[in-house]
Amino acid sequence: MTKAVILGTGSCLPEKTLSNADMEQIVETSDEWITTRTGIRQRRIAGPGEQNYQLASGAARRALAMADVAPEDLDLIVVATISPHMIMPSTACFVQAELGASKAFAYDLNAACAGFTYGLDLANSYIQSRPDMRILLIGAETLSARLNWQDRNTCVLFGDGAGAVVLAGASDGRGVFGSNLHSDGTLWNLLAMDSPQSFNPDLRREEWQGEYIRMSGSDVFKHAVRLMEDSATTLLRQHGLAIDDIDLLIPHQANIRILANLRERLGMPEERMFVNLSQYGNTSAASIPIALDEAYRQGRIARGDTVLLITFGGGLTWGSLLMRW
Ligand code: UT7
Repeated sequence: MTKAVILGTGSCLPEKTLSNADMEQIVETSDEWITTRTGIRQRRIAGPGEQNYQLASGAARRALAMADVAPEDLDLIVVATISPHMIMPSTACFVQAELGASKAFAYDLNAACAGFTYGLDLANSYIQSRPDMRILLIGAETLSARLNWQDRNTCVLFGDGAGAVVLAGASDGRGVFGSNLHSDGTLWNLLAMDSPQSFNPDLRREEWQGEYIRMSGSDVFKHAVRLMEDSATTLLRQHGLAIDDIDLLIPHQANIRILANLRERLGMPEERMFVNLSQYGNTSAASIPIALDEAYRQGRIARGDTVLLITFGGGLTWGSLLMRW
């Protein structure tokens, strides 16, 4: 059966770095608290010329160059994001225009931090029904514009950036071969970002807190560890695989303590889990594709390797995905 394989990866990060010491000048926090509670040491913050679609296009150009695919040959562009350049048109349409990918249709996907993994599953389905498709899938965020910089519970956690992959069909046993995706809308209020009041009459009330990310951190933490583990163990079981069969685990990069817990519960050795959280913080939908790109370019993934992605985000949305590189 034809499956979606990754032909190229790319990422693009803003120039400006904000260290934990810089954060101490903005809110009442400390490098020690942020480092020990989250594992984050710095994050990138978008400046002029680094809008969401511009970071997305930068990542896309690198992925297309590695894949040796011309923008005009793309059939579809999907951007996973919760910080789109505009509500309409989609960020994907801006990317299409930037790249000159005239043949492609383009749209955005919102599954919060899980968006890129949902997008890979979607791309695999497209390719199974139309094996000749070439798909550009991007995770891109400029969350710094959606943070309340007076709320130390959230503003220290997130960062900006984009990662991209170019996908095509292969029938040689490689590609995406399993996924286990979930959502639970009843828990929406644990991690949310309001729209501007003018968009939603229900929000025209005293307690509206602005269109910023808000989170019940410790509740999200507990759900994340349990649900990420459940999803991955179910998926591995469905495919008759053990954790030792996985060459590299790439989890969503949100908190080093979540990752350590997850790794221990799965029985995964430290050297087979990719972590770059200390450099970029939580970049939501961009976190896994940035990590994929770095892991591949560092030689951590080779052709034929089995890679496991595990993700978790607002919605709640979560899941895992298996691919053979
Ligand atoms: O990407 C989507 C998924 N997101 C996540 O997975 C995030 C999950 N949650 C987390 O990563 C953690 O829950 C946090 C890092 C957000 C918080 O860590 P925690 O160990 O759960 O801390 P907490 O929320 O229970 O807060 C402990 C204390 C509180 O003080 P009191 O009430 O005990 O006096 C907070 O006010 O830490 C305080 N605190 C801070 N102190 C210094 C919260 N943020 C900060 C801060 N600097 N930035």
